[in-house]
Amino acid sequence: MSNSDETGLEARLEEQDAFEPPESFVEQANVSDSSIYEAFDENWPQCWEQAADLLDWSEEYEETLDDSNPPFYEWFTGGSLNASHNCLDRHLEERGDEAAIEWVGEPPEEDNLTYTYEDLHAEVNEFAAALRDIGVEEDDVVTMYMPMIPELPIAMLACARIGAPHSVVFAGFSADALATRMNAADSHFLVTCDGYYRRGDALDHLEKANEGLDGVEHETETVVVDRLGANDDGFGHGLSDSQRDYDELVAEHAGATVDPVERDAEDMLFLMYTSGTTGEPKGVKHTTGGYLSWVSWTSQAVLDVKPDDTYFCPADIGWITGHSYIVYGPLALGTTTMMYEGTPDYPERDRMWEIVEEYEANQFYTAPTAIRAFMKWGAEHLEDHDLSSLRLLGTVGEPINPKAWKWYYKHIGDENCPIVDTWWQTETGGMMVTGLPGVSTMKPGSAGRPLPGVDANVVDPSGEQVEPGRAGYLTIDKPWPGMLRTLYRNDERFIDEYWAEYSDTDSDDPEDWVYFPEDGAKIDDDGYITVLGRVDDVLNVSGHRLGTMEIESAIVGVEGVAEAAVVGGDHDIKGEAVYAYVITEDGHDGDEDLRDQIVAGVEDAIGPIARPESIVFTPELPKTRSGKIMRRLLEDVANDDELGDTSTLRNPDVVEDIRANVQN
Ligand code: WT7
Repeated sequence: MSNSDETGLEARLEEQDAFEPPESFVEQANVSDSSIYEAFDENWPQCWEQAADLLDWSEEYEETLDDSNPPFYEWFTGGSLNASHNCLDRHLEERGDEAAIEWVGEPPEEDNLTYTYEDLHAEVNEFAAALRDIGVEEDDVVTMYMPMIPELPIAMLACARIGAPHSVVFAGFSADALATRMNAADSHFLVTCDGYYRRGDALDHLEKANEGLDGVEHETETVVVDRLGANDDGFGHGLSDSQRDYDELVAEHAGATVDPVERDAEDMLFLMYTSGTTGEPKGVKHTTGGYLSWVSWTSQAVLDVKPDDTYFCPADIGWITGHSYIVYGPLALGTTTMMYEGTPDYPERDRMWEIVEEYEANQFYTAPTAIRAFMKWGAEHLEDHDLSSLRLLGTVGEPINPKAWKWYYKHIGDENCPIVDTWWQTETGGMMVTGLPGVSTMKPGSAGRPLPGVDANVVDPSGEQVEPGRAGYLTIDKPWPGMLRTLYRNDERFIDEYWAEYSDTDSDDPEDWVYFPEDGAKIDDDGYITVLGRVDDVLNVSGHRLGTMEIESAIVGVEGVAEAAVVGGDHDIKGEAVYAYVITEDGHDGDEDLRDQIVAGVEDAIGPIARPESIVFTPELPKTRSGKIMRRLLEDVANDDELGDTSTLRNPDVVEDIRANVQN
């Protein structure tokens, strides 16, 4: 293609604001009939039996939805099932020899691994037996603190098999973050590993895990996976009396089988801690029946997963995306799911495309932050790769700007793959607002209509629907099977955080209960929803959710710091970046040393993902007369925007002073 053709094409794409799904895709799509929207509306909530029907139940459920005690909804009540059986055993007969997990390691010269359904089933059984042996009982919370190694999903499925909920803590989180989560969940068991590789270097993970364990208030048993083999010589950690080696444990239980425990539909499958407005992470509780139905149905309807596919989502299992759409959804459908241990630009910036080509991946599901990075690195990294196996592309985690969407559509999808822009949250368990790839017209930048059977709206502060085009707040007006059931051991906070805003909390009529995800949004004439971002004090950095309060309390914990305010500033790649405004104890400018300590303090409390992009020392913070920090103005400073209204400030001059400090 000549250069001018190329430019012409770019120009055409740039102007186009709606795209139809490619005919070749529609012909083979799992869902291709647009009547599904109406059908689900008319048959709500029974429409969700379609999701439950994707699973094997050991006991049929009696009721689809029990809404007698809102917002404590229950789905598929009376039914029982086991998630590990659904993800493994039931596929053995037909797909035992097919790959369940294709694991791609780092460094790249390392052997990659294929786990067939047989292999995965065998190791999950052995490890389930081992967990029982070290004392894990039904309903005990088992924490996992592991990077992208196969033993992570194995441990998750082993827990599911014996009815022990898991709580996975992202490996990039700090020792403190691990301790906080183990304490909050009263978790007595940890599965972790010695280390892992990043850009070719072996990292010491066990040191961090051990440090975390020092902060756990109760007795613990730990299992340690040996990921590094001989490469961890330098780290030199022995295992303590309460620590067992994973390989030895599994070998001791070689050939063991464990009957999958029958779990009630409403029994907890896992806990996942996520950031909220306060400094304390929220333990989001997901159940066995509703969650597994939800992720299976959405994997099928939205990601168009079929058993013979090779599905690739390079997210981390330490976040909800990996739980729902690397592990549970794809495995429940019996497909091949990929796991990638490394980073997208190591050893070269074409690593993703090398993998897509080699494994002939059919779906690719990633975050806008990654797409913006690919775009910045340039299309030349795609040149030598055949990506024609791809059938569908997806995005998740943050709004995607039309420019990045179009780049993705053209360069990765070759204008031949529908893109699903999927809005959802840790709390929703799975996708909520997104197009159906074989049905919906795509509008770059907009997630699309709510899924069939999902009742999402955009409202003003009084709860009235806003006019098309006007900004408002996203709400979800009817329950759905994948929804969180509560915050672990904290029903009150569950109601406060998600329901109080738009519900009549004294009512027991489900019509009076509205779920508030704390996102801003707008809706167009076709009912397409564009999500504008969080409206609470939560940042979205590279698709990862970080509470400003958590970061602030880490900064204030540093000696010499009196006060801190953290806001999000725009960032080309990360979407948002952490901007910290800091008042020192002696009121003077902090020096480089203090700056380093602040960065270290944040890394210790949360992890490197929360590292501030910018730290500005200031003698004062902009505050209202009642003493509340005006974060909005600090955001204006971070983005170098025109200042918003400063008239309610007690100290209106301070903002310009801070701006001057930034420029210095
Ligand atoms: C928040 C949830 C969903 C799994 C990964 C993040 C934002 C998510 C989109 C999207 C615009 C999005 C929202 C949401 N978000 N997907 N397609 N378009 N914004 O899960 O950590 O629970 O974060 O991510 O703000 O509330 P999470």
